[in-house]
Amino acid sequence: MKKDIITLGIESSCDETSVAVIKNGRKILSNIVDTQIPIHEKYGGVVPEIASRNHIEAISRVTKKALQEAKITFEDIDAITPTYGPGLVGALLVGLSYAKALSFAINKPLVGVNHIQGHIAANYITYEELKPPFLCVMMSGGNTQLIHVKNYNEFEVLGKTRDDAIGEAFDKVARVIGLGYPGGPKVDKLAKEGNPNAIELPKTHIDDLDFSFSGIKTAVINLHHKKPDINKADLCASFEKTITEILMENTKKALKKINTNTIALAGGVSANCFIREEFLKLEQKGIKVYMPDLKLCTDNAAMIGSAGYYNFIDGQTSELDLNAVPNLKL
Ligand code: KG4
Repeated sequence: MKKDIITLGIESSCDETSVAVIKNGRKILSNIVDTQIPIHEKYGGVVPEIASRNHIEAISRVTKKALQEAKITFEDIDAITPTYGPGLVGALLVGLSYAKALSFAINKPLVGVNHIQGHIAANYITYEELKPPFLCVMMSGGNTQLIHVKNYNEFEVLGKTRDDAIGEAFDKVARVIGLGYPGGPKVDKLAKEGNPNAIELPKTHIDDLDFSFSGIKTAVINLHHKKPDINKADLCASFEKTITEILMENTKKALKKINTNTIALAGGVSANCFIREEFLKLEQKGIKVYMPDLKLCTDNAAMIGSAGYYNFIDGQTSELDLNAVPNLKL
C-alpha cells in the first residue's frame, strides 16, 4: 500500500509564525498559528524588524507544538516546505533558515513554496473534491490577482492590481477613519451595520483584466476628511459594495476568457463576509464558487504544507542555498 506523504509547512512571510503538519496535501494533522497582531497593533501596521525578531523567538516553540499536536516525530516527515517569498525579507529568512537547518539536520528534502501558491492551496484543504483547472480570485494584503490555475503547479496570471492590493485599501481606509489595525476585519464588522447604497464611490475602469484600488481608497479618505461626521458604517458598507463590484466585473470577464465556470477565492480578504455573500450569488448563474474555511483565508502554514506537497510529488525539491525572494512572482 502506498505510504502517506507528510509535509511540514513553515510560514513566516509577514506577522504570523506558523507551522503545520499536512497529510497527502489535503488533511491537517496540526496547524499552529502564533500571531503577532497584538504586538504590531500599537504601531498601526507591521513593523518589519519587530516581526523578524518575534519570528525568531517563536519558530522552535511553534514547530515543537505542531509536531506534538500531530503526534509525529521528525522521522515521520517526508518534506520540509517553507515559504520563501513573497513577503518581508527579514521575516521570510527566519522560517526559511530554520527549515534549511532542519532539512540538513534530519536529512529530509527541502521544498520551497511560493506564498501565493499557498493561498490557492487553502482551497484544497477545505474541499477534498476540488481539482484544477479553475479561476482563482486572489485577494490578500500584498496581492490582488486573477489567476488561471491550470494545474497544481501551473499558473497564468490573467490580471493584477496596478497600484494598491485590495487588503492595503481595506487597511488604509480603516486606519484613516480610526478603526485601527488590522483594518479588514474591522471594516467587515462595522459594514454590517451600514447601508451599502448610502454613498456613491468611484470605480476606475481599466480595459484589460487588471485592477486599480487607489482611486476608491482615496475617495473614501477624502470624504472622511471633508465630512468628519459622515456615518462610518455607511462608508464601510459602501466601500465594500463598490470594491466587490470592481472585483466581480473582471472576474466575470476572466471566466469567459478561460472558458470555465469554477471559481476559488483566496487570500485574507476572502474572509470578508460581504465579498463571500456576493460571490456565492454567482452559484445561481451556474458558477461553482469555492472559498477557503475562514481560518485558512489569512496566513497559515497548513496552506503552505499543502502547496509544498504538490511541489514535492512533482519532484520540485530545493537546494540548501535557496534564498528568500521578497517580490517572488507566481
Ligand atoms: O492573506 P493575508 O493574511 O496576508 C497576505 O498574504 O498578504 O491578508 C491580510 C489582509 C489584510 O489586509 C487584512 O486586513 C485582510 O487581509 N483581511 C480582511 C478580512 N480579514 C483579513 N479584509 C476584509 N475583510 C476581512 N474579514
